Amino acid sequence: MCGIVGYIGEQDATDIIVEGLRKLEYRGYDSAGVAVLKDGRTEIRRAVGKLRNLDKALVERPLTGSVGIGHTRWATHGRPAEQNAHPHAVDGITVVHNGIIENYLELRHRLVQRDRRFSSETDTEIMAHLVAEHAARGLGFVDAVRAALTEVRGAYAFVILSEREPDKIITAKNASPIVIGYGENAEENYVASDIPALLAHTRTFTFLNDGEMAVLSKSGVVVTTLDGQPIEAKVKRVDWSPVMAEKGGHKHFMHKEIFEQPTAIADTIRGRVIMEEARVHLEGMELGDVNRLQRLVITACGTSYHAGLVGKFMIEQIARLPVEVDLASEFRYRQPVIDETTGLLAISQSGETADTLAAIKEGKRHGAPVFAVCNVIESSIARECTGSGGVMYTHAGPEIGVASTKAFTTQLVALHLLAIHLGRERGILDRATAQEMLTNLREVPKQIETMLNREASLVAVARRYAKSKDVLYLGRGPNYPIALEGALKLKEISYIHAEGYAAGEMKHGPIALIDENLPTVAIATQGDAYEKTVSNLEEVRARDGKLIIIASEGDSKIAAIADDVFIVPRNQPLIDPILTVVPLQLLAYHIADINGTDVDQPRNLAKSVTVE
Ligand code: AGP
Repeated sequence: MCGIVGYIGEQDATDIIVEGLRKLEYRGYDSAGVAVLKDGRTEIRRAVGKLRNLDKALVERPLTGSVGIGHTRWATHGRPAEQNAHPHAVDGITVVHNGIIENYLELRHRLVQRDRRFSSETDTEIMAHLVAEHAARGLGFVDAVRAALTEVRGAYAFVILSEREPDKIITAKNASPIVIGYGENAEENYVASDIPALLAHTRTFTFLNDGEMAVLSKSGVVVTTLDGQPIEAKVKRVDWSPVMAEKGGHKHFMHKEIFEQPTAIADTIRGRVIMEEARVHLEGMELGDVNRLQRLVITACGTSYHAGLVGKFMIEQIARLPVEVDLASEFRYRQPVIDETTGLLAISQSGETADTLAAIKEGKRHGAPVFAVCNVIESSIARECTGSGGVMYTHAGPEIGVASTKAFTTQLVALHLLAIHLGRERGILDRATAQEMLTNLREVPKQIETMLNREASLVAVARRYAKSKDVLYLGRGPNYPIALEGALKLKEISYIHAEGYAAGEMKHGPIALIDENLPTVAIATQGDAYEKTVSNLEEVRARDGKLIIIASEGDSKIAAIADDVFIVPRNQPLIDPILTVVPLQLLAYHIADINGTDVDQPRNLAKSVTVE
């Protein structure tokens, strides 16, 4: 998730762009850059790291001009380095991009064969080459961009300049956000990834839709389809405060990130599925011959540990590879029995959790290949695994809320893709079954959207239970870790004590807790354990326990024993956890919000625990 700002008008573009990028800080920084057109020439300044490094570069070598584009990068392809920082310029065409070009490998290969030389590892530079090639064939700037867009597949928000036609900025959108801001007091217009970047200058916006592009000049904006059909641009007035705008109108980052899950999951899948061959392409993973592995040990903390527990079910059932899951804070103290035939997989959103990093180093000391699922490129854990088993990145974008949500569901998706990859490589999983699994996985973003649309029903449930002192969460099979995760969500943001339990364990103790004051949140979706779970819940009911049940679409039985039911769409049992966690995230969020706790920065917690 990157930040983009563009300006064309009478004022100095550099300050407008850089200040706009600063308002997109929540979108993450690995690097930042700005390009300005003046007297038919493009000048670029780029810097790795926070925006202040770009500020320094601009103090040393100022940029002036009234047309420009800028970018802050959340790296998805190519490490955070100056050479990979946007903007990328090729033969007078300058591009900034937010998204993932799915067919970047194929396009890069074709361009190299046509003797195009690359100066970066990014997928974005490919677009600059494509537009430059079409312009070199005699196409005008707009037509050259249109022609290039017919060749790229994937998620993009492009903003592009041309030295040949310095009186315009072109932008095009597919799956990544683009807003256009209209100058209110002068001949000027703006483009950005998100509203906060432009609120200082305008309140009137057009939100581009997928498959649309726009040509901005000082005097106006022309919106068309990608193939040039004119579109009547809808102009909206936005009266958000700047703080609200950073949260996209959401009250908290956590709420925004819960709602970003469909996009984050689609981005995590994008570019990794070769459906015809039912293969998963895990760029960054350097596992080599997976058949040398006799088992995996997954190690992580907190929510990432819960993802690992679900991953065990996925990998063992799909790839028939034995998997152990260990808390990273315990792993290195138990004198683990591992060697070069044991794969050690770390799961970490931040890639900086000290216990998880230490566990990886312990694994390396035993000669085990170490690899990771991370959300932050070039993080410490990612770097520690590079050169060994490598890294598979989730593409969740920056997660600001301390309570992990979109990072968790994208970890589950990554683990499911890994399980399919291992199953295919080990000759366990046939092509047709793998294709069916991948098709089911691709259903998840839409299925989560349908649940998010029913948020109001969970607000009502939250009101009923917001003053509870204790809450029990129950689940079976791959939903048992989801019970643990739901309990963690509630306690870490609302400070209400909660614990997750395997539903089958009720009669071994926890049922003694049940009375009318102890609500139980239970996951009872369709699957092998359904009947047994229902009988566990009837035991709760028989003791006046309140039941909030997460059930499958079409389950007409469960309402008879539940005080509240939330329906989740049907998918496959191993994909179910990616769905059932969403109502638990929303329930925890709304209970905390009702209780007025600091949802994004709960007391005593930090987003990344970099101390042991
Ligand atoms: C989850 O909501 C918490 N923020 C916490 O448990 C977190 O998952 C844990 O600290 C691990 O962080 P990591 O994924 O960045 O390694």
